[in-house]
Amino acid sequence: MKIIVVGTGFVGLPHAAVLSEYGHEVYAYDIDHKRIKAYKSGDREEIERYVNEPGLVASVAENMGRYLFFTTDISEIVDGTDAVFLCLNTPPKRDGSSDLSYYLNAAHHLAELLANREQKNRVVLVNKSTVPVGTARLLENIMEEHGVENFGVASNPEFLAQGNAIAGSRRPDRVVIGADSEEDFGILRRVYSQFVNHVRIRYLETTPETAETIKYMANTLLLTYISFWNGVGGRMAESVPNIRMEDLKLGVTSDDRISTWGSYVSNGAGGSCFGKDIQSLIYQLNNAGRSTDLLQAVYNINEYQKTYIIDRAVYEAGFNFNQKTVALLGLAFKKRTNDMRDSAALKVVESLLARGVKAIRAYDPLAMDDARDFWFSPDKNHLFDRITYHASAKEAISGSDALYVSTDWEEFRGLSRTIEMTVKPPFLVMDGRRMIPDFETLVKAGYEYLPVGGTLLKAKAESQKRDNGKVPSKMASELETLA
Ligand SMILES: NC(=O)c1ccc[n+]([C@@H]2O[C@H](COP(=O)([O-])OP(=O)(O)OC[C@H]3O[C@@H](n4cnc5c(N)ncnc54)[C@H](O)[C@@H]3O)[C@@H](O)[C@H]2O)c1
Repeated sequence: MKIIVVGTGFVGLPHAAVLSEYGHEVYAYDIDHKRIKAYKSGDREEIERYVNEPGLVASVAENMGRYLFFTTDISEIVDGTDAVFLCLNTPPKRDGSSDLSYYLNAAHHLAELLANREQKNRVVLVNKSTVPVGTARLLENIMEEHGVENFGVASNPEFLAQGNAIAGSRRPDRVVIGADSEEDFGILRRVYSQFVNHVRIRYLETTPETAETIKYMANTLLLTYISFWNGVGGRMAESVPNIRMEDLKLGVTSDDRISTWGSYVSNGAGGSCFGKDIQSLIYQLNNAGRSTDLLQAVYNINEYQKTYIIDRAVYEAGFNFNQKTVALLGLAFKKRTNDMRDSAALKVVESLLARGVKAIRAYDPLAMDDARDFWFSPDKNHLFDRITYHASAKEAISGSDALYVSTDWEEFRGLSRTIEMTVKPPFLVMDGRRMIPDFETLVKAGYEYLPVGGTLLKAKAESQKRDNGKVPSKMASELETLA
């Protein structure tokens, strides 16, 4: 099949690479010339500066020039194309609705080219972007307005998880196709022939509107589940000493009806999708005059979770951030990615600076350049001189008064030793990911340890004097609100 992938970001590039692995002739197209130049170079560092996914560079290297081609101009390519996948960014606007400007620009450009193509074979335009329900119809109208002939539209939402994009695209749990005609289903069956009738992959054909809704429902349900663990399990274990989070997880999820995925406590879910998609669904339901109380609560719980531990440090540990130096470990929204979008670290920095922190010493194994770009941006210039970037966790911790672990990078599991070797107590460890399994040795050595999903731990005599196992009043009122 001849395929064009429009937009070569976190979704488009892995999608194009994996489609080319199956022998399709794939043209990966982007308007960002620097990005395309980087991909064409085949150089690992260059490619990973844009999209850093395990297995991606190898896949690109193997297929480029044979089945995979990069371009900033598709005017000569549209002829004879069977399918065009739209993988454009659809960021949230201030009011929560989806900003469709990138998507619409690409759609209009495509429509002009397709209207003038010479070969009038059937072409299917496929939405892989997460777009408001009804956008496939909108795309159809755009094509008709431009006079495009012999085309179909389809919705094929992307469910990949960043950090696992290549493996996830090679073996998705499901492929959802929303289309109107048997002809278009047929074209997409050929595109995805390796997944049709697969014993373990559900291949679902439905209407475009259902497919679009499946994507929003799936993402908001995952966020709801994460927020349940943070907002209920986490709060209980943070309020009542002696609740063991790991046992809680095991006990609750030992029920086939309850998922183990997401049954952990963290500093909230970040990334480009969860927050954006729930806001968009709230907007769409509000527009339809429907209640969105549940979704609004989930969104609020998740956003507050990102900095909640900083409030706890003040209320529970009595820590005064004013003029202190804080090490921030982990900047990307999760491990194995350089993506900073909606990362907890962004909110953590704002919260720390608002509390008068003198300096933030940041470290991330992968996202340092992305973070620098973000905090160097013109509207954030007032922040950058208070953030310094360091080559290792040890270097970031050195000279700090407290530490916030924001990302679940595996290398942070050994932090207790690094802390002991680098700083002396008093020193507060805020563990937003429960990454320090041997926290007890830290506590014995005199450090204060404040994890999500657990009470403040510090050398025994003092902690008993202060909390005596009681739920702090601010936390107690929050528990009431949640109840
Ligand atoms: N990132 C994820 O994990 C993920 C998962 C599932 C779904 N999605 C959805 O997929 C879509 C794409 O997300 P992403 O993370 O890949 O975005 P991204 O920002 O990483 O990539 C978008 C790409 O589109 C390009 N682009 C913008 N306008 C263009 C135009 N007119 N023509 C050609 N290219 C253009 C940009 O230069 C960029 O390379 C979004 O709707 C997102 O919600 C993302």
